Order: sequence, then structure tokens, then C-alpha cells
Amino acid sequence: MFRLAAITIALLSTAGLAPAQTAKAIFDAHCARCHGIGGTGGEGPSLAVPVLRHAADDEALASVIENGIDATDMPGNWMLGANEIEQLVQYVRSLSRVEARPLPGDAKRGKALYEGRGACSVCHMVAGDGGAIGPDLSIVGLTRGAEYLRASLVSPGETVADRYVMVRAVTKDGREIDGVRVNEDSFTVQVRDVAGRFHSLDKRSLSVFEKQRGESLMRSYGSDLSAAELDDLVAYLASLREEP
Ligand code: HEC
Ligand code: HEC
Repeated sequence: MFRLAAITIALLSTAGLAPAQTAKAIFDAHCARCHGIGGTGGEGPSLAVPVLRHAADDEALASVIENGIDATDMPGNWMLGANEIEQLVQYVRSLSRVEARPLPGDAKRGKALYEGRGACSVCHMVAGDGGAIGPDLSIVGLTRGAEYLRASLVSPGETVADRYVMVRAVTKDGREIDGVRVNEDSFTVQVRDVAGRFHSLDKRSLSVFEKQRGESLMRSYGSDLSAAELDDLVAYLASLREEP
């Protein structure tokens, strides 16, 4: 009887609770929503790469996991214990041994599209060139995964980072302002409209002020680019990896 219980426990611990399995479960619960199952990338970058820019060694990796990365969308994970963090470090390192799948598109054609018909630089900067209405894309290939990049082009409203939330304001004298919320406190809100004009509004002077979740200042390119052109553009964006 006693022996049977011991065997059952031994079996359970090899079946369900083997270290690799547990680490994967922790990753799936806390990290996969941004980094993808298997760490292939999404709102966060792919972790299945040979070199992690913010985590040269395991100590740095543990710190990234625990504290997040300042001024980025990588959050801290203070709810995780030291043991869980250690398991995640091992798991993330194991991902780098998986060979990355090459993207289907052609980055050179994507670049031509970006600079030409796409006119993306009206709103985006790459290596110091372009507009500042949308986020700087100089290292977007390091900060986002390919799936997220594709979604940004096809359904931009689904991938809006917090600092690009759209708002709609109507003043009491009937003026309507739509744009990106640049800043907000209890009394005022600063909005940059599609034309790049800056508006500082006193909230008491507004009859309507609403956040428009799910909407982006960027339109969808899903219908005027072919599937192959989208692949090319994603390949180009994924290749942008140099700090300006
Ligand atoms: C809310 C989304 C989100 C969640 C959840 C998240 N991350 Fe991240 N992570 C990001 C983003 C975005 C970056 C890229 C930051 C940058 O460099 O701009 C990042 C960066 C990283 C990096 C650095 C990559 C490099 O190239 O150096 C590591 C490592 C990492 N995350 C691991 C994790 C782990 C492990 C978890 C789970 C405990 C996790 N992340 C949870 C969004 C997320
Ligand atoms: C009218 C201005 C405008 C134009 C033109 C525009 N964008 Fe955007 N873009 C934005 C804004 C604003 C955001 C932030 C909100 C969001 O994520 O949808 C954004 C977000 C993005 C993101 C997500 C970046 C991140 O890190 O979350 C990518 C990638 C992107 N744009 C690529 C492109 C490409 C490629 C083109 C050209 C085909 C393009 N954009 C054209 C305004 C624009």
C-alpha cells in the first residue's frame, strides 16, 4: 500500500510535472499572449532567436522577466517566484535552439512598396527619415513578431499600443477633433489629428470626449495590397533592426 502510493507519486511527477513541461505551462500562461506559443513572436518579438538583445546572459534574462523593459510594452512579472523565473530562463534559452522559419516575402520589394505606393513614411520614421504621426519603425523587426506586423497592416485597430489610442472630442461650440491622444490629465487632453496638427483641449469645454478602442489613425491596407505584397512588406518590416 505504502509502496503503491510512492510509485503513483513518482509516475505523476514524471508525467505531468516534469520540469520542461512546467516551464512551458508557465510560459503559456504568462508570456504566450504576447510572444506566441513556442515564443515565435506576436505583440512581443520572437524569442526563438540565437541572440537576445536585452539578455546577454541568464542573469540579464531573469531581470528582464522579473522587471520588464522600461519604456516598452514588456511588463514586469512580480507575481512570479524565483523558481518560476529560473524555469522560464531555461525555457527561453531552449527556444533559441529552434531554427527560425524564414518569412515568405521579399524585403527588397517590401522596401520599394514602403517608400513608393504605400507612402508609409508620411507617418512613420525609419532611421531618422519620415513623419512622426505613427510610431518610429527603425527597430520594429526587433520589437514585434511577424504575425503582429501583418495584423498591423491588415487590421491596425486590433494592435494599437496605449500611446496611440484614438479619441474623439466635440467642443461645446460644435467643433469635432479626431486624433491620437498624446497626453491626458484630469483637466486637459492633448490630441494630434490626422494632419499632424496639435490640439490642447480643456475638458470643461467639451461636450463629447471618448476613447475609440479598436480604432487606429492608420487605415487598413488589407484590400489594396495583394497577399504577396503584404508578405513583402512584412519581410521588410521584420528586417528593420538597426537603432537610428
Ligand atoms: C504585454 C505583452 C508582453 C508580455 C505579457 C510579455 N512580454 Fe516579453 N516583451 C514584450 C515586448 C513588446 C518586448 C520588446 C520590448 C522592446 O524591446 O521594445 C518584449 C521583450 C522581451 C524579451 C527581450 C527580447 C530580446 O530580444 O532581448 C524577453 C527575453 C521577454 N520579453 C520575455 C518574456 C517572458 C519570459 C514573458 C513571460 C513571463 C514575457 N516576455 C511577457 C511584450 C510582452
Ligand atoms: C496616416 C498615418 C499612417 C500611415 C500612412 C501609415 N501608418 Fe502605420 N501606424 C500609424 C499609427 C498612428 C500607428 C499606431 C496605432 C496602431 O498601431 O494602429 C501605426 C502603427 C503601425 C505599425 C505597428 C507598430 C508597433 O510597433 O506597434 C506598423 C508595423 C505600421 N504602422 C506600418 C505601416 C506601414 C508599413 C505603412 C504603409 C503601408 C503604414 N504603417 C502607414 C499611422 C500610419
